[in-house]
Amino acid sequence: MTTATTATTATTATTTASTAAQPHAVGVAHTRIEARDKVTGAARYAGEIPFTELAHGWLVLSTVARGSVRSIGEDAVRALPGVLSVLHHGNAPRVKDDVIGALGRPDPIVEVFQHDRVPHAGWPVALVVAETSEQAREAAEALVVEYDEEPHDIAFHADRPGIYTPQDMEATKGDLDTQLAASDVVVDAAYTTPEQHHTAMEPHAVTARWHDGRLQVFDSNQGSKWIADDLAGLFSLDPAAVHVRSEHVGGAFGSKGLRAHHVAAVMAATELHRPVRVVLTRRQVFATTGYRSPTVQRVRLGADPDGRLRAFGHENLNLTSNLREFVEGSAAFGRTMYDADAHHTVNRVVPVDVATPTWMRAPGEAPGSFAVESALDELAERLGMDPIALRARNEPAVGPMSGLPFSSRRLIGCFEDGASRFGWADRDPRPRMRRDGRWLLGTGTAASTFPAGAVPSTASVTAEPDGTFTVRITAADVGTGARTALTLIAADALDVTPERVRVRIADSDFGPAWVAGGSMGTRSWGWAVIAAARDLRERLPLTSGEIPDGGITARTDTAELIAALAKKERYAYGAQFAEVAVDVATGEVRVRRMLGVFAAGRIINPLTARSQFVGGMTWGISMALHEEAVRDEASGGHVGADLAGYHVAAHADVPDIQAEWIDDPDPDDPVGIKGVGEIGIVGTAAAIANAVWHATGVRQRDLPIRPDRVLLAEARRDA
Ligand code: MOS
Repeated sequence: MTTATTATTATTATTTASTAAQPHAVGVAHTRIEARDKVTGAARYAGEIPFTELAHGWLVLSTVARGSVRSIGEDAVRALPGVLSVLHHGNAPRVKDDVIGALGRPDPIVEVFQHDRVPHAGWPVALVVAETSEQAREAAEALVVEYDEEPHDIAFHADRPGIYTPQDMEATKGDLDTQLAASDVVVDAAYTTPEQHHTAMEPHAVTARWHDGRLQVFDSNQGSKWIADDLAGLFSLDPAAVHVRSEHVGGAFGSKGLRAHHVAAVMAATELHRPVRVVLTRRQVFATTGYRSPTVQRVRLGADPDGRLRAFGHENLNLTSNLREFVEGSAAFGRTMYDADAHHTVNRVVPVDVATPTWMRAPGEAPGSFAVESALDELAERLGMDPIALRARNEPAVGPMSGLPFSSRRLIGCFEDGASRFGWADRDPRPRMRRDGRWLLGTGTAASTFPAGAVPSTASVTAEPDGTFTVRITAADVGTGARTALTLIAADALDVTPERVRVRIADSDFGPAWVAGGSMGTRSWGWAVIAAARDLRERLPLTSGEIPDGGITARTDTAELIAALAKKERYAYGAQFAEVAVDVATGEVRVRRMLGVFAAGRIINPLTARSQFVGGMTWGISMALHEEAVRDEASGGHVGADLAGYHVAAHADVPDIQAEWIDDPDPDDPVGIKGVGEIGIVGTAAAIANAVWHATGVRQRDLPIRPDRVLLAEARRDA
């Protein structure tokens, strides 16, 4: 598991790594290591790294939603100023379509220019390459593509044909119908969430070139080794011949895996023997990089008069493409959250003529928690019970479906702490009782949870002759502060101050590591860094203090350590509280304040962890009130695929948000991390929707809670 290399030339430099008593870095607020570079513009992003001989590619996207390409008028475009190439299915190199990478088979949406089929609107049909970005764009927009169009179908609703249940997507315990029939109180309600987009501030961008016999890729991604290995597979290259770097990333949220622009840029760089950059416009980001599927969900809860759940049913439907099955696993949320005599939860999908949806901001848990945590609020209302007491009443001792113990579970601790901070005890449970001028006021709460996993990763730590340490790991800092967190973890593991630790990330040459995803990045990477640091300390020359030129390096893989983890239910938890003001004359909903209290493992850097929680809760406001991608059924494409047409919560939408945490280190790993990446969005939209009910007396079961929906609810209420 451990390999170490020792350089041969000794110097007299010393290190005090093993002897100095240092303050602990983990748990102490630390500004981002790269903060100065970012705010001064010194930090280079994938689309702005300078190269000589750089050529620019511009994607041409299909204007039809289904059919085939009949002709591509490339001759006229090749004659335009600066144009170097027009790549399309008629001339592009073939890629392998049976690659299985670290995260499974790459989505076939990356297999561009391989055939004349058009599977969805916005499918890339050509890449125009030119000397400048402007010339490439001009030529791409002039390219005449003719299609043989076929009827398409993008309709998404629960009554349509083609719905099926993928393998392993259904979980059953007891008989739901029997227990519903035996329940004193039943809630049976449908909830919907719309198509949502990641909208990272930095659009996707990549530069590819051949250099010293290797394919070099300068990218914005969530995992450089993942991208490198998938590219190696697609282009039948030795993995060692592919080098991917992604130093700074301006947001990802699940969307920055391998995509069409990577493949197109590599094809063009290979053909032209020049560096080729492809930067996506915001509309191209909407069309080609993935999104969260809309969901239609049905929740059925049956309870005894004291609130004990007899029946827990949750059915979820999402759409997927005709290219690949993607499940938005909303119905998994309840499997570890609430016990009941009978459980039935299922995720179903239906393929339609769209691009494949993908992971986005707590995939599954975010929409699933909206439905379940709203339904529980409805159940509490019918029972005349406090919503927090209802959750406490159904707190399981072991995993409701698995029977496994929880590694730790402090959900109720979060609610108790949150209730006292928020002032929940003073709440009048009756709806539509509080008013502030034109505003009706209400408060709501909901539970959060997110899986706390770790994935094997490799890291190396080098003791340098000058007394500093260099950590290398193919981590990605997508804006979370992961680089800084790893610096603090490494400092403590080496027993030195963070100033003596240099963490280098986002370089596929550093070896396999988990991606920035699933809220498992910092835990997986931190574990590997700790393991490598421990191995290094065993090898340091304690007596002579001499570190040779080139340093001493320990390189460690955590596969065995993670495989040895005891089987338990490992989750982070949280309690969300929201206060809203609703103007029922205009339909406007304002969130006035929000509080989230989390039990999410050891907090490495309070500064960036709080920022991540607050950011996640902001995604929740956005999900509750704003975000909704609209497709035109006639064209199959998006309407308003930009940040004017697609609303995300902006500064003026976001009130005072407080994020707090209670102590909850994972007991079984050396880091104690559970992961804070995504839990902030879980339950948030339900807390806001529950608060809107409390303000108005009307349930909002469809997101986003738009003004027209508030007005319609008011009209129904008056009728
Ligand atoms: Mo994320 S949706 O964990 O990439």
